[in-house]
Amino acid sequence: MRMTTSSSVGAGLVVLVATVCLLLPAATRAQLQVGFYNTSCPNAEALVRQAVAAAFANNSGIAAGLIRLHFHDCFVRGCDASVLLSVNPGGGKTEREAPPNNPSLRGFEVPAGRRDGNVSKEGDALKNLPGPNNTATGLIDGFAAKNLTAEEMVVLSGSHTIGRSHCDSFLFKNRERLANGTISPAYQALLEALCPPTTNQFTPNTTEIDLSTPTVLDNNYYKLLPLNLGLHFSDDQLIRNATTAPNVAAFAANETLWKEKFISAMIKMGRIEVNTGAQGEVRLNCSIVNAPSSSTGIEMLLPGTSDDRADEVATS
Ligand code: HEM
Repeated sequence: MRMTTSSSVGAGLVVLVATVCLLLPAATRAQLQVGFYNTSCPNAEALVRQAVAAAFANNSGIAAGLIRLHFHDCFVRGCDASVLLSVNPGGGKTEREAPPNNPSLRGFEVPAGRRDGNVSKEGDALKNLPGPNNTATGLIDGFAAKNLTAEEMVVLSGSHTIGRSHCDSFLFKNRERLANGTISPAYQALLEALCPPTTNQFTPNTTEIDLSTPTVLDNNYYKLLPLNLGLHFSDDQLIRNATTAPNVAAFAANETLWKEKFISAMIKMGRIEVNTGAQGEVRLNCSIVNAPSSSTGIEMLLPGTSDDRADEVATS
């Protein structure tokens, strides 16, 4: 559902981020640095924090959207904001049009980042993003390809302590789980009641991923898994695998441990294949690559997609 207030927040954010971008120096350094903007734009981080807080006040679901947006950007051509592009300069569909992102990814109104890439292909998203029907081995391999360990995969999956999921992401695979006893029958009955028989990629119905505390960043996600209350097959897989099951148990028992590891893993994920120095560009419009002669002109356009999913379809 789009709301006027959100659209104006979105517009404000685009202007804000574009302004921040413009204040940046022509980057010549080739490493990511803490304090990179200290001299060129000392308020950059405070401005971004303020913009995120405003978006969160308007729709708390944006927190989950942004965490996932970061993940889906970093796993496809690195953390280069390629997921924000609404047009593939080479022709064909973009990353954001790929089924793992469309229509479920949200938060396009709050971009931030490093130097931006100028390629965005649906096929890259399909190849690089893990899916909810992946086995534990598939998940481990997918994260290893991004230099993330099996433990870090389990740590980052803990993001599923907040946010929502569409019927198509869990309904059919969970019928297999019901048959082999790896999902609570009562839980599956609830999900069957939520999802129409005609469920497909574009069915809008969603449910909380963490049934117990869906808006709190806590370790309940891990506690639900041994109770057969993991929503996705991929979540459930974490307790069915000898490598990852001990991690789940450790994080279920110790929330502080999980939070410490979550911070480190998010930072590590944010360094995947980044563009630094003179690589890529600083986009003037977050959803479109710069025109060849656009070094001076600035167009303030809204990104093509806005999703103000105000957690509107609930299971209860
Ligand atoms: C381990 C592999 C992973 C798989 C298979 C997976 C799969 C999914 C799926 C299917 C959804 C629901 C999409 C929908 O239908 O709306 C989802 C949502 C979400 N995922 Fe993951 N995910 C994985 C890892 C991660 C990681 C690494 C992060 C971030 C660090 C993350 C953060 C989120 C968040 C926050 C949501 C909720 C988004 C919202 O409410 O808009 N996931 N994930």
